[in-house]
Amino acid sequence: MSERLSTGIPEFDRLVGGGIPRSFLVAVTGEPGTGKTVFSIHFIAEGIKEGDRCIYVTTEESRDSIIQQSAQFGIDFRRAVEGGRLIIVDALMGLEDPWSLKSLEIDELLNKVIEAKKTLGYGRARLVIDSLSAFWLDKPAMARRYSYTVKKVLTKWDFTVLAVSQYAITTSDAFGFGVEHIADGIIRFRRFVRGGVLRRYLLVEKMRQTPHSLVMQEVTVLDGRGLTLLGSAKQRREDVAVPSKVSEKVIKAAEEREKEMPP
Ligand SMILES: Nc1ncnc2c1ncn2[C@@H]1O[C@H](COP(=O)(O)OP(=O)(O)OP(=O)(O)O)[C@@H](O)[C@H]1O
Ligand SMILES: [Mg+2]
Repeated sequence: MSERLSTGIPEFDRLVGGGIPRSFLVAVTGEPGTGKTVFSIHFIAEGIKEGDRCIYVTTEESRDSIIQQSAQFGIDFRRAVEGGRLIIVDALMGLEDPWSLKSLEIDELLNKVIEAKKTLGYGRARLVIDSLSAFWLDKPAMARRYSYTVKKVLTKWDFTVLAVSQYAITTSDAFGFGVEHIADGIIRFRRFVRGGVLRRYLLVEKMRQTPHSLVMQEVTVLDGRGLTLLGSAKQRREDVAVPSKVSEKVIKAAEEREKEMPP
C-alpha cells in the first residue's frame, strides 16, 4: 500500500484510509469560513511534527495572520519558521522579504516554492497553497492548465500538496472549474444555517486509490484545539429525532385511522 500522510486530525485520517497518499495533490474547496485554512494549518503542523519540509503559501491572509490563527490552536508556527522547518510564503502583503510574492503569477509561485524547498532541504515535503484559485482570479479559464502545471512540476520535488480553492457563492460553482479534475482528491467543505445556527460539514468527494468515506461529517472549530469532527451528518440525533409535537401528531393520526378501520 502506498505511504499515507496524516493530516494531524486522526478522525479525518480514518475517513481516507489512514491519510493522504504521498505525492497527491488534493483540492480543499468550500465557501468562506468553512474551515479550509484551519484544516491546512493542521496538515502543516503534523508535517512539522513528523520532520517534513513544510511550505505554506498564503494569498488571502498575511503571514502573521496565519501564525496567530495557528497559535490559537496551540500550534507554534513562529518557532517552526525560526527553526528552519517551515517557510510561509506571503502573497498578500507585497513585502520585500525573500519569502513574499510580488504578484499572483503561477510561474512566480512555482519558482518560489522550489526555492523554498531547496532551502529547507532534501526529503518528504508538504505544501499548502491557500489559495490556488487566487492565481487565476482574473483568468478562470486557466484553472485547469495552472492546476496541471502545479501538479506536474511539484510532484518531482516530493511534495504532497493541499490546493485550497474557493467556491463562488453566487453560482455555487467551484472557482475556476478545473482543479477538481486534476486533483487526486477533493475535500469539500460546506455550511448551512439550521435552526438559526451555522453548521459546517466536510465530505471527501474524491480520493484516488482509496476506499474513502462517502458520509458527510459535521465539523466545528474549537478554540485551543482547531478543527474537530462531530460525527457523521446522517447520524446526528437532531437529524433523526422527530420533534415531540410532530410525533404526537403522528400517533394521533394513527389512532384516528385505527378507529376508522373496519373490525
Ligand atoms: N480560535 C478560534 N476559536 C473558535 N473558532 C475559530 C477560532 N479561530 C477561527 N475560528 C473559526 O474558523 C473560521 C475560519 O475558518 P477558516 O479560516 O478555516 O475558513 P476558510 O474556509 O479558510 O475561509 P476563507 O475561504 O474565507 O479563507 C472562523 O470564521 C471561526 O468560525
Ligand atoms: Mg482561508
